[in-house]
Amino acid sequence: KALQERNRLRAVNEKALAFYRQALVANRVPVIRQYLTARGVPAEIEEKFELGACLPGWDHMTRALMQQGVSTDDLLTLGLSGRSRKTGQLYDRFRDRLIFPIRNGSGHVVAFGGRILDPDAAPQKYLNSPETPLFHKGSELYGLYAAKDAIRKADQVIIVEGYMDVLACHKWGVQNVVAPLGTALTDEQIKRLLRYTYHFTTAFDGDGAGIRATLKSLDRIEALGGHVRVLQLPEGQDPDEFLQAEGVEAFYSRIGEAPEGLAFRLKLMTKDADLSRIETQMGLLEKSLPTLDLCKTPAEKDHAIRLIANFLDLSEQVVTDEYKYRMRYGR
Ligand code: UTP
Ligand code: MN
Ligand code: MN
Ligand code: MN
Ligand code: MN
Repeated sequence: KALQERNRLRAVNEKALAFYRQALVANRVPVIRQYLTARGVPAEIEEKFELGACLPGWDHMTRALMQQGVSTDDLLTLGLSGRSRKTGQLYDRFRDRLIFPIRNGSGHVVAFGGRILDPDAAPQKYLNSPETPLFHKGSELYGLYAAKDAIRKADQVIIVEGYMDVLACHKWGVQNVVAPLGTALTDEQIKRLLRYTYHFTTAFDGDGAGIRATLKSLDRIEALGGHVRVLQLPEGQDPDEFLQAEGVEAFYSRIGEAPEGLAFRLKLMTKDADLSRIETQMGLLEKSLPTLDLCKTPAEKDHAIRLIANFLDLSEQVVTDEYKYRMRYGR
C-alpha cells in the first residue's frame, strides 16, 4: 500500500516535470530562456538536467495536473501546490522560477528546486520542495543520478554548493560532481556517497559561508572514514564563476593542488598565528592531535605527524611524544 502511494506520487512528480519542461521548451516564458543564455547554460545541459520553467500565473500547473486526474491531496503532499488561507483555492507553489528537477540516485524525481530570476523579487533566491514522503532534503544530493558512473570511474566525488555549479561542471566535462541542497554535508549524504568512493574533494564557494561549510563537512567526512581534499577558490567566486572566468584546465590544476583536510585546517589555523610563542604552538597542537586518532594505517599517521610538525614548526619527535602522552593520560 505504501509502495502504491510512492509510485503514484512519483508519477505525479513526473507529470509536473513534463509540464515545467514543456513550458521551457515551448518558450512560454521567454525571460527564462534569456536567463539561461545569459548564464551560459547550453542546450545540451538544459536537456540533460531537464530544466523547466513555471509560468507566472496563479495556478497553471495545478490546473493542468488536475485535468490529468491528479488529486488535490497529492498536489499538496508533494508541495507542488499550496492552499490559499483566504479563498481555499490551490495555487502553484513554484511561480516565475527556473525549475531544477531533483532526481535521487535511482533516477526518480523526488523534488524540485526553483530559482527566482530577480533575487529582489522574493525572500528566497532558491525555493525547494518541502519534506515529503518522497523527499528528505538531508539525504538527497543534486546531480547524483547524472554523476554516479563518473564518480565510480574517477573514484572521486567533487562536492559543490549549488545547482548552477553542478551544471557548470558538466558543461566543462567534469561529471563527478554533486551538491547538497543547503550548505554543509549531512552524514546521510556522506554515507550515500561512500557507496561510490572514499575520495571527496570539496569545492565550496570562496566566501565565509563556504569556509564554514568546508570545515563542517571535513569533520563529518573524516569521521565517517572518507578522505577529503579541499579545492580553494578565489575570494568571492564559486565553481560556476571560476570555470566561466578561468576555464577547466585551471579548475583541474586547483584540484591537483587541493590540500588534504588536515593540511587545510593547519593552514587556516596557522594563517595569523604567532608560532614563536610556545603557548600558541601547544594550543594548536592540542587542536590537531585528535586527527591522528582517525588515521587508519601507520603510514597515514606518520604522514599526519609530519604535516602537523611542519605547519606548527615543531619536531616530529615532539608531536609524537605529545600524542603518546595525551593517549596515556587521556587528554
Ligand atoms: P548560493 O547563494 O551560493 O547560490 O547558494 P548559487 O548556487 O551560486 O546560485 P546562483 O549562481 O546565484 O544562481 C548555494 C545553494 O544553496 C541553496 C541552493 O541549493 C543553492 O544552489 N540555497 C541558496 C537555497 O536553498 N535557498 C536560497 O535562498 C539560497
Ligand atoms: Mn554560497
Ligand atoms: Mn584512499
Ligand atoms: Mn553561483
Ligand atoms: Mn554560489
